[in-house]
Amino acid sequence: MSDSQANMQSETQSLEHYWMPFTANRQFKSKPRMLAEAQGMYYKDTTGRSVLDGTAGLWCCNAGHGRKEISQAVSKQIHKLDFAPSFQMGHPIAFELAERLAQISPDGLNKVFFTNSGSESVDSALKIAINYHRSNGEATRTRFIGRELGYHGVGFGGISVGGIGGNRKTFSQQLLPGVDHLPHTLDMQNNAFSRGMPKTGAEKADVLEQLVALHGAENIAAVIVEPMSGSAGVILPPEGYLQRLREITKKHGILLIFDEVITGFGRVGDAFASQRWGVTPDMITTAKALNNGAIPMGAVLIDDAIYDASMQGPDGIELFHGYTYSGHPVAAAAAIATLDIYQNEQLFERSRELEGYFEEAVHSLKGLPNIIDIRNIGLVGGIQFSPSEEGVGKRGFGIFEHCFANGTLVRATADIIAISPPLIIDKQQIDQIVNTLGDAIRAVG
Ligand SMILES: Cc1ncc(COP(=O)(O)O)c(C=O)c1O
Repeated sequence: MSDSQANMQSETQSLEHYWMPFTANRQFKSKPRMLAEAQGMYYKDTTGRSVLDGTAGLWCCNAGHGRKEISQAVSKQIHKLDFAPSFQMGHPIAFELAERLAQISPDGLNKVFFTNSGSESVDSALKIAINYHRSNGEATRTRFIGRELGYHGVGFGGISVGGIGGNRKTFSQQLLPGVDHLPHTLDMQNNAFSRGMPKTGAEKADVLEQLVALHGAENIAAVIVEPMSGSAGVILPPEGYLQRLREITKKHGILLIFDEVITGFGRVGDAFASQRWGVTPDMITTAKALNNGAIPMGAVLIDDAIYDASMQGPDGIELFHGYTYSGHPVAAAAAIATLDIYQNEQLFERSRELEGYFEEAVHSLKGLPNIIDIRNIGLVGGIQFSPSEEGVGKRGFGIFEHCFANGTLVRATADIIAISPPLIIDKQQIDQIVNTLGDAIRAVG
């Protein structure tokens, strides 16, 4: 069958059976947007039309699409060892990947627990936090503190510490007990159109002291935040904010977890946001760009002290937690090939080098209809619009649809458009994204 026949077939295939995640299924199925192929910076849809990838898939494909190094490594590994159990058994490539991750992770975070997604990384980190305190003789430390507008995936742990109302409301009676939230750091009154980190708002971290006073430090296991909130619409931490969270958590013996599922692997101009902003947490959750999105995989990077404390108990299994596919050999092969590309092509550095150009480009949209804020860091941009009279999210979705119809993929969350292209993007392609976006903003109004 030729490619065009395959494409034609997909145009007529049934869309009935697949319940799509985080998707308006009825809207989608009445007007599908189908991607069939990808290479470099471009997708091809099922009609053969090129679509510039302004979102690295879903914050995943930082090295661009169709990387031969990754597909060859996957093919080689699946022939050599397709699967091996990770419970009471090991295979070399998982250990090799753990070592490679320890080499690029912030100081002290030298232990790695493998998962298959960001959601699983978050739930694993929360459990590791409780297990750690218990090993330390502080079994009452079980509470978690998340943050409003935080996104930590969709497990019950993740939505409990998460702070996006829409993801929690339906399940609100069944969320984890013992969770509280810090205020979010979005302050458009004082910080709209900031470039990089906003100047004001670090004191929002001080609310943590109030929560400690309320619940008692001896009952709190961990604070979890995204150093930069991605899913809620690119919300940056104010200058000094993360440092304060670190100081307060340290003072009270509370673990600090950075959820870097989006910010990890070069997105904000360093391997991790933790390094970019000079604040080292006790754990970092990752997934997505870990292996360029090629095969589901996540990892929690863990401070040595947490691992060491957990190894003090009686002989036997130290952590009753893990997944059939933890450290899957084929996913691990994809990850090692991906880390090689990041290193050989200096893509984290590239993201930092392009930051200035990208910043100018996205901020050039200021003044177009209904834009109330533009935010950026590394190769991430967020453009926020006032909601239209038709309701929240309609304007954002309209702009997203218009961009897609005109050959550029951006992401809409409510009335915020996020751009997060692969780190291989060039200046011309940055211009193309911003020009298409500008046209869409003017057209949608
Ligand atoms: C910060 C953060 N944590 C966790 C997740 C969940 O990851 P996954 O969808 O792989 O479960 C995401 C996904 O976007 C995320 O952005």
